Amino acid sequence: MTAEYQVHGDVAVITLNNPPVNGLGLATRRGIVEGLDRAQADAAVKAIVITGAGGAFSGGADIKEFGTDKSLQEPNLHSVISAIEHCEKPVVAAIHTVCMGGGLELALGCHYRVAAPGCSVALPEVKLGLLPGAGGTQRLPRVVGVEAALNMIVSGEAVKSEFIGAVAGQKLFDKMAASPESLAEEALAFARSVADARPLPLVRNLPCKHPEGDAYFQFARNMVKGMARNFPAPAKCVDAVEAATKKKFAEGLATERELFINLMWTPESRALRHLFFAERAASKIPDVPSDTPKRDIKKVGVIGAGTMGGGISMNFLNAGIPVTILETKQEALDRGIATIQKNYEAQVKKGKLKEDKYQQRMALLSTTLNYDDLKDCDLIIEAVFEELGVKETVFKQLDKVAKPGAILASNTSTLDVDKIAAFTQRPQDVVGMHFFSPANVMRLLEVVRGKHTAKDVLATVMAIAKKIKKTAVVSGVCDGFIGNRMIERYSQQAGFLLDEGCTPSQVDKAIEKFGFAMGPFRMGDLAGNDIGWAIRKRRAVEQPDMKYSKTADLLCEKGRFGQKTGKGWYDYAPGKRDAIPSQEVLDMIEQHRKDAGIAPRKVSDEEIVQRLVYSLVNEGAKILEEGIASKSGDIDMVYLTGYGFPIHRGGPMHYASEVGLFNVVQAMQRFARNPLDDARAWQPAPLLAQLAAEGKAFA
Ligand SMILES: NC(=O)c1ccc[n+]([C@@H]2O[C@H](COP(=O)([O-])OP(=O)(O)OC[C@H]3O[C@@H](n4cnc5c(N)ncnc54)[C@H](O)[C@@H]3O)[C@@H](O)[C@H]2O)c1
Repeated sequence: MTAEYQVHGDVAVITLNNPPVNGLGLATRRGIVEGLDRAQADAAVKAIVITGAGGAFSGGADIKEFGTDKSLQEPNLHSVISAIEHCEKPVVAAIHTVCMGGGLELALGCHYRVAAPGCSVALPEVKLGLLPGAGGTQRLPRVVGVEAALNMIVSGEAVKSEFIGAVAGQKLFDKMAASPESLAEEALAFARSVADARPLPLVRNLPCKHPEGDAYFQFARNMVKGMARNFPAPAKCVDAVEAATKKKFAEGLATERELFINLMWTPESRALRHLFFAERAASKIPDVPSDTPKRDIKKVGVIGAGTMGGGISMNFLNAGIPVTILETKQEALDRGIATIQKNYEAQVKKGKLKEDKYQQRMALLSTTLNYDDLKDCDLIIEAVFEELGVKETVFKQLDKVAKPGAILASNTSTLDVDKIAAFTQRPQDVVGMHFFSPANVMRLLEVVRGKHTAKDVLATVMAIAKKIKKTAVVSGVCDGFIGNRMIERYSQQAGFLLDEGCTPSQVDKAIEKFGFAMGPFRMGDLAGNDIGWAIRKRRAVEQPDMKYSKTADLLCEKGRFGQKTGKGWYDYAPGKRDAIPSQEVLDMIEQHRKDAGIAPRKVSDEEIVQRLVYSLVNEGAKILEEGIASKSGDIDMVYLTGYGFPIHRGGPMHYASEVGLFNVVQAMQRFARNPLDDARAWQPAPLLAQLAAEGKAFA
C-alpha cells in the first residue's frame, strides 16, 4: 500500500508511503482517492489530513513511471486534485521536508496547508525541460504572488517553507507548525478547527493579477531569453503564468496543459530527461550491487603536487577529509601548496568562500617527502608524471607502506591501469581515478576498473566521488578510456577539415553554434597542443598507418602550444584569453594544402558538425560493444560533464539516436568516400550498424 489510511478521532489521515520521496505513482494516487472516499463515507470523520511518511511530503511524479502509460492512467494527478477540491470535508495538507513538483501541486489543490519549517518547496519541472503540468503555474501565483511564483517556476529552485511562511500576505501556508516534530499534532488540531468551515476555500478561486501586466511579462520574457538560450521551457513558463493572470482558471489550466504537452515532445526536454536518468544510472555498476560493503575513507594521500595533485587534494579538503600530499622535493611541495592557497584566496576574494572555512580546509592539509607518512591513509591517489617508469616507482613504494585495504588509485590519462596494478602485490586494491583539469572544478571523474579491481573498491570510489561532488562514470581499461579515446577521433576530423578548406575559427564557430562550450581549436589552445603532439608521436610508432592531418604537428613545430606560449591555433594578447585568428596559422595551413596538392573547397557548417559529432558516436559505439562503457548513457555523461557537449543535445549517443542511427550511418558512409578522410575510421561499429539496420536507438 503506498498511501495509508488511519482515523484519529474525527480526523482521517492519508499518509503517502512510497519511498524514497513518496512519488505520486499510480498506486499512491489510487490510495489518495480511496482514502478520500472512505473519509467521506464515514460520518464520524469531520476533516482529512494528507501527509507523507518518512523523509518527504512528496517529491512529485514517480520517476519510475516517467514516459510510461502509468503516469497517465486514472486517477492521474489532475483527477486526484479534482477529487480533493470536490471533497465535501476539509482537506488539509501537512507538509514537511520535501514538497516538490506534483507534491506541491497536490498540496495546492487542498483546501488548507500546514507546513513544517525546513521544508524544501519547489516546482522543478523546468530542469527537465518542462513546466508544472498539474495546475502549478495557475495556482502558485494565486498564493505567493505572480513574481515570486514565476521566479520559482522558471528557476526550478527550492525555497524554504519558513521563508515563504514569513512573507506578508502569502496564502500558500495557512499555518506554520512550530517544528517538524509537532507538525502531525498541529495539522490534526488545525483540521479540527476548520471542520465546520463552509464554503471550503479553493486556491483556484483566488484572484491573480500583476499590477504592471503586459510590461512585467515582457520584462520577464527578455530576462528568460538571455538566461536560457537553448531551452524553450522557461519562456513557456512565462506564457503559462501570464495565462493565469489573464484567463479564467479553467482556461489557464488548459493553456498550461497544452504548453506542457508541447514541451514533452521537444528534443531539449528529451535530452534533459535522458540526462536525469543517465546521471542516476551512471552511479550504478551492473555487477556491483548497491549493498556492496564500502571501505571507510577517513584520510587521503596524494602523490604529486602538480597541476592535478593540487586540484585533487582540494576536492577532499572541501569535503572535510584530511589530505597528505607527498612530493620528491620541498620546492615542488611549496609550489603546489601555494597554488592551492591562491585558488582558495581567489574564492575568498569573490565572496564564494568564507575566510574561516578557508582556514579550516588548509588545517586539514599536510605535506611530506616521506612515504611512511602515508601509512594511515585509506585512499592514496597518484598524480605524478605520465611515465610508466615513474608510476612503477611510486606504486612499488605504496605497496610497501600502505596499510592493508588502502585503495591505491592512479590519475593516469593514458597508461594501462592493469600494468600499474601489477607493480603491487595487491592489484585488487588498485583503480584508476581519472580527474579532469582543473580537478577542483570539473565535475567528471572516470573511474577506471582494472582486471582485478575489487567490487568493494569500486563501490567505495563511487561513494567517495559523490561525497566530493563528482559525477563518476566507470570505464574499462583502454587507451584514453571513454572520453579521451573518443576525442582523438574528433580531433582527427578537426584536422582533416583544415586540410580540406576550413579555417580553425570556422570549425570552432560551427561546433560552438551547435552548442559546444568550445570548439576543438580553442580547446587545444587551452589544454596545450603539445599533449596531442606527444600522443601522435607515440601513435606513429604503435600504429604507423593511422591517418592524421599534418597541420597540428606543423603548428607545434612552430612552438605554438596554445595559451601557455601566448600563441597556438590563435594568437593571444598578453594576459588575455580571447582567441584572435592568426595570419601565420592561416598561411601555414594554406602552404600545407599546396604541399599536399589539395585544392581547398567550401565546407558547410552542417558537414563540420556531423563529422565532428559522428566521429564521437562511432568510437562511442565501439566502446560500448567492447564493454569499456556499460551503457550509452555513461558515455553521454562523460561528454556532458567533461567535454562541454551541449546539455540540450543530451550527449553524443543520445543525440545520434535523436537524429536516427540510420541517418548517422548514411552520413558516415558518405564521409568514408571522401579521399582526404580516413575511410577506416568511418567504418560503422558493428553495434551501430546493427542498431541502425534494426531501426533502434542506443538507449
Ligand atoms: N594535466 C591534465 O590536464 C591531466 C588531466 C588528467 C590526468 N592527468 C594525469 O595526471 C598526472 C599528473 O599530471 P599533471 O598535469 O598534474 O603533471 P604535473 O607535471 O603538473 O605534476 C606532476 C607532479 O608530480 C611530481 N612527481 C614526479 N615524480 C614524482 C614521484 N616519483 N614522487 C612524487 N612526486 C612526483 C612532480 O614533482 C610534479 O609536481 C599524469 O598522470 C597525467 O596524465 C593530467
